[in-house]
Amino acid sequence: MQSFMSTPYLLLIPVLSFCLLLLLFIQWRNTHPNRSRLPPGSMGWPYVGETLKLYTESPISFFSNRQRRYGDIFKTHILGCPCVMISSPEVARSVLVSEAHLFKPTYPPSKEKMIGPEALFFHQGDYHSRLKKLVQASFLPSAIRSSVSRIETIVLKFLSTWQTRTINTLNEMKMYAFDVAINSAFGDKRDMDVEGIKHLYQRLEKGYNSMPLNLPGTPFNKSMKARRILNEKLRKLIEKRRREGGEESGGLLGVLMGNKDGKLNNLSDAQIGDNIIGVIFAAHDTTASVLTWALKYLHDNQCLLEAVTREQEGIRHNIVEENRGLTWDDTRHMPLTSRVIQETLREASVVSFTFREAVQDVEFEGYFIPKGWKVLPLFRTIHHSEDFFPQPQKFDPSRFEVPPKPNTYMPFGNGVHSCPGTELAKLEILILLHHLTTTYRWEVIGNEDGVQYIPFPVPKRGLPIKVYPKNNN
Ligand code: HEM
Repeated sequence: MQSFMSTPYLLLIPVLSFCLLLLLFIQWRNTHPNRSRLPPGSMGWPYVGETLKLYTESPISFFSNRQRRYGDIFKTHILGCPCVMISSPEVARSVLVSEAHLFKPTYPPSKEKMIGPEALFFHQGDYHSRLKKLVQASFLPSAIRSSVSRIETIVLKFLSTWQTRTINTLNEMKMYAFDVAINSAFGDKRDMDVEGIKHLYQRLEKGYNSMPLNLPGTPFNKSMKARRILNEKLRKLIEKRRREGGEESGGLLGVLMGNKDGKLNNLSDAQIGDNIIGVIFAAHDTTASVLTWALKYLHDNQCLLEAVTREQEGIRHNIVEENRGLTWDDTRHMPLTSRVIQETLREASVVSFTFREAVQDVEFEGYFIPKGWKVLPLFRTIHHSEDFFPQPQKFDPSRFEVPPKPNTYMPFGNGVHSCPGTELAKLEILILLHHLTTTYRWEVIGNEDGVQYIPFPVPKRGLPIKVYPKNNN
């Protein structure tokens, strides 16, 4: 009798295995018929996907290469997640505005722990809109117009320390934007240990981009320790201000503690604390990166710098004549400087994209997006499209003499989660540029062009510059 393991039977094994795999594949396709309608693109290697390519190619060319190959909606797999990238203004609008209920904001759990789970970024629906109204109210032009002189004092303090020494622009701008953020968060009251809070926040910040490894001695662990102490400090401050009539204390803290319409504002200490930290987090690296780029672009475009300086000197002339400080109204009469800021926001696109996640299986623009997939509107790619911004690599503020086409310009995002700090960010940039251009000149040290990621894109080595008073050579 022939053995079961003899040659003809052995040959059947691979054939049967192949048939079994084929059957499993057909069954999988039948239960997931929509998989064939996923957007075009490559998911790369199992598990790592295209993450290595993202790092080796640089995020900017990674996205633009794939957009050229696959079009305005393509799929990929990065940082452990299947993703759909969007570089059409209309489709980005659908994700962020008209279909926003289908795509929730999403952040790594470690970021949520560090900033605080109650911060508004992480929420949708009622809780988010209650908080958003309060935060927006603190940063409306009518609320921040009285902060011009306080911001001016902060600018003058920094500028006086920059003279005739080489500074790391990014680091200095981070400290400046941080001081403005602290002032906006807590108001002017001198009842708190600002330096202690700053110190703890800086310890917290060191772990923001670290591996989320919570073991003794790791950056993440140190960061979380700082966060716990910060919580305690904030809780005591809230308690103290509540005893003294919190809503009078100014700043975002005063607004969040306020109780003007009863239940609307009935926030717990944790909710208040997480949103204070959240706003400080959102306000300072972004603004500092934009300021650093603004100095680079002005330095590289000397004719433009001269024109901006003339605009600012005109304003300074009136201020000196009238023997007063800079006012909100002065900042409304800086059209060229404002266009320089608009163009810096476009060209640098420091928030290059944002993350959303499909809350359910979604039929979208003729494609199928499975529940849980990340969806990323690519702001930078849209801002650098030849179709909407001719010669996109050219730094040309005059392009903003006419408004950009709808939905093509989103440096502050779009829809329910768009930035509430737009006016404050622009104001602090205007005030700094006013004093810098009228009193100082600056020279970039080294001729190293290029970008590094913090994770925001910033000029290489933080743009070292040397600052001189104008009357010196
Ligand atoms: C030039 C500087 C800034 C840039 C480029 C910027 C950009 C952005 C962008 C693109 C978003 C939307 C993110 C998304 O949709 O996922 C956003 C949200 C946010 N920004 Fe800004 N921002 C800046 C400054 C500020 C400042 C000064 C504040 C302080 C008030 C601030 C507070 C926030 C907050 C709290 C959110 C979350 C809003 C929400 O989830 O509803 N930002 N920012």
